[in-house]
Amino acid sequence: MLRVGIVGATGYTGCELVRLLSGHPKVTLTVITSRQHAGTAYTDIYPAMSGRVDLVCQPQDLGRVAAETDLVFLALPHEVSMTVAGPLLAAGCKVVDLSADFRFRDAALYEDAYQPHHAPELLDRAVYGLTEVYRDGIREAQLIGNPGCYPTSVLLPLAPLVAAGLVDPAGVIADCKSGVSGAGRSPSLAVHYCEVNESFKPYKVTTHRHNPEMEAILADIAGKPASLTFVPHLVPLTRGMQSTIYAGCTGDASADRIRACLREAYQAAPFVRIRDPGDIPDVLHVRGTNFCDIGFHWDAKRSGVILMSVIDNLLKGAAGQAVQNMNIMSGFDETDGLGFIPSAL
Ligand SMILES: NC(=O)c1ccc[n+]([C@@H]2O[C@H](COP(=O)([O-])OP(=O)(O)OC[C@H]3O[C@@H](n4cnc5c(N)ncnc54)[C@H](OP(=O)(O)O)[C@@H]3O)[C@@H](O)[C@H]2O)c1
Repeated sequence: MLRVGIVGATGYTGCELVRLLSGHPKVTLTVITSRQHAGTAYTDIYPAMSGRVDLVCQPQDLGRVAAETDLVFLALPHEVSMTVAGPLLAAGCKVVDLSADFRFRDAALYEDAYQPHHAPELLDRAVYGLTEVYRDGIREAQLIGNPGCYPTSVLLPLAPLVAAGLVDPAGVIADCKSGVSGAGRSPSLAVHYCEVNESFKPYKVTTHRHNPEMEAILADIAGKPASLTFVPHLVPLTRGMQSTIYAGCTGDASADRIRACLREAYQAAPFVRIRDPGDIPDVLHVRGTNFCDIGFHWDAKRSGVILMSVIDNLLKGAAGQAVQNMNIMSGFDETDGLGFIPSAL
């Protein structure tokens, strides 16, 4: 059994990691940490897991974490992960980081969007954990920068079309909606029930930190500069993310070619489902799962494609994809621990 740990286990993505890893057939969850809840039984924080999870939160002692694990998930805020990853890697652990700290190859791009990077020497070692696109690199990786939830939902539909030269990466528009758990567990006015319930509004228009992350990866896939206009919205859902993406196409594109390209790219991908034309993806169909469902509409009049994707932000957008990456890094079946049948409601 692979020994795994979670640093920052009491947040929303940490909670999903505890749930997934506790039911995983090939791992033992040996240590979970929390600063605020050290010494507390995990089920006192999340009673839903009573009778199934028998773990007590430990202080963030990295020496102990390293001694008790082979692979560690960091479910921490950005800027914190970069200080934790180095000592764990040096002690021989593999690391899957859910924050933004290892998603950028270029430290300057990261620093422009976030803050100074304190471990830039690790960026070259990190592999971007968009599983279906970077699977070969993930297999050999010691350190994964797990993608953001918005980037996962936007890049999975675009990647094959950009790689095939069917979509122009220079003028993409992504209109995206996220459930409130995307903001994490810490309370704030913006995620107060009365501020969110029955509300629907954009935020951080073109200034969201996931914008440069998406442009950098699109450029990497295209082999040329990419430009993406990104407008995120908050919707009154606990979990779920929907992206509608508008992209201009090159002369060779057609409805048939787009469908064939998406189908071929993901025919062996167990968690990406390509919908038939006219079959609109719904967040309800991926809730609580690691799936990304992708639909498309060919706009012949404007030679453009409208892509529609849905994910669960906490699973394919975070903890589920992190476990999928661990499976690949460890030589397990990609679906181990993630193969449950979705609930229809
Ligand atoms: N929520 C999503 O949908 C989503 C999707 C993709 C990626 N992510 C990324 O995943 C990471 C975790 O997100 P989340 O939503 O789970 O956040 P969260 O609910 O706010 O949880 C953060 C966790 O980190 C710990 N923590 C906070 N500050 C810390 C510090 N200074 N030092 C050590 N531990 C600290 C907290 O526990 P203690 O305070 O008890 O230590 C808590 O367990 C973030 O980087 C986020 O951007 C989130």
